[in-house]
Amino acid sequence: MSSRKTGVKMGKVRHLPLSVPYLGGNEEKYLVECVKTGWVSSVGPFVDRFEKAVSGYCGAEHAVAVSAGTTALHTALLILGIKEDEEVLVPTLTFIATVNVVKYVGAHPVFMDCDDHLNIDPLKVREFCEKKCVLRKGKLVNRRTGRRVRAVIPVHALGFPADMEKIMDLAEEFGLYVIEDAAESIGSRYISGRYAGKHTGTIGHIGCYSFNGNKIITSGGGGMVVTSDGEYARAARYLSNQAKDAPVYFLHHNVGYNYRMTNLQAAVGLAQLEQLDGFIRTKRENFEYYRKRIEKMAGLRMIIEPANSFWNAWYYSVVFSGTKCPGVGEIIEAISKEDIQVRPLWNLNHTQRPYMREQKYRIKKAVEYFNSVINVPCSIGIKPADK
Ligand SMILES: Cc1ncc(COP(=O)(O)O)c(C=O)c1O
Repeated sequence: MSSRKTGVKMGKVRHLPLSVPYLGGNEEKYLVECVKTGWVSSVGPFVDRFEKAVSGYCGAEHAVAVSAGTTALHTALLILGIKEDEEVLVPTLTFIATVNVVKYVGAHPVFMDCDDHLNIDPLKVREFCEKKCVLRKGKLVNRRTGRRVRAVIPVHALGFPADMEKIMDLAEEFGLYVIEDAAESIGSRYISGRYAGKHTGTIGHIGCYSFNGNKIITSGGGGMVVTSDGEYARAARYLSNQAKDAPVYFLHHNVGYNYRMTNLQAAVGLAQLEQLDGFIRTKRENFEYYRKRIEKMAGLRMIIEPANSFWNAWYYSVVFSGTKCPGVGEIIEAISKEDIQVRPLWNLNHTQRPYMREQKYRIKKAVEYFNSVINVPCSIGIKPADK
């Protein structure tokens, strides 16, 4: 096992990282091509090829490459015109980028609980809309704040597909936009029900992927906006490329952003995408290896994919329960001493300093999972001997 590919240091002490990239395909070849042809910056053939490959793979009509998952999400909110003093329903259990982008546009997050797959609980979202809001001429208004609720951001947490049937139903009923934060879930899809065959990220109005280094595929850093709406795609391209209205004459009618992906990043991203199905196969096999062993231990279980879906097996979550179980902090400390990198779930966002004053609704399960889950090493390159 080479350290370049797995991030695992060979030698006396074996460091087992949580999740590192596996660069075993055409990455080097494509990068050399960029250097040799001089296409290294924010336009180039690999950007086009990567966009087409992602849209083809996920079955999204349009894909626009951007600099990060965070900038993809920010762009999505801008495209949908979500603005100051409006509200967006978000899970409290997610990486903070999901929530920060709401602040970037001056809107307010309202924090929701999670279900047993760590995804936003659609039943509580519906309950919030019904009990705490009122529909006035098709606009959902939060009774407490008087602000309009414009959107919901389901996150496919750790790659587990969220319950999009319920989310799309309530979004339609309450006039909400749906932005799927599919940062962690490329390759995850539904296998039964209304969305059978559909990939996460392609069901809501806009979906956003991340290709950060810890994701199942990486472009070094990068993201993708996907949508079936040509106007949204055009707006994503325009806003992420400095809102150029007449490029030659530097004419700009709107505030734009430098959110483009470089050709170098896209070259790596494309090489990674070519390997994605193999990565998922390996990760699912490794997950089964863990699961069979962990589930034999009293008080331990792993979170498994929802019955209607195929999971990309991005991160592996072990749930500790039972009164004799030590706390997550103690477990992490003990495992870290073995030079094995494990992590808790994200700190709940309604408790983070920038968001403590924002509204939250009946959060219970997220607290329980935050206090009982650790994520264990899941890199593609790990082998049974490492586990
Ligand atoms: C759920 C979620 N949303 C958004 C992001 C942001 O993506 P990026 O790091 O590419 O900006 C990440 C990952 O980092 C994530 O895990």
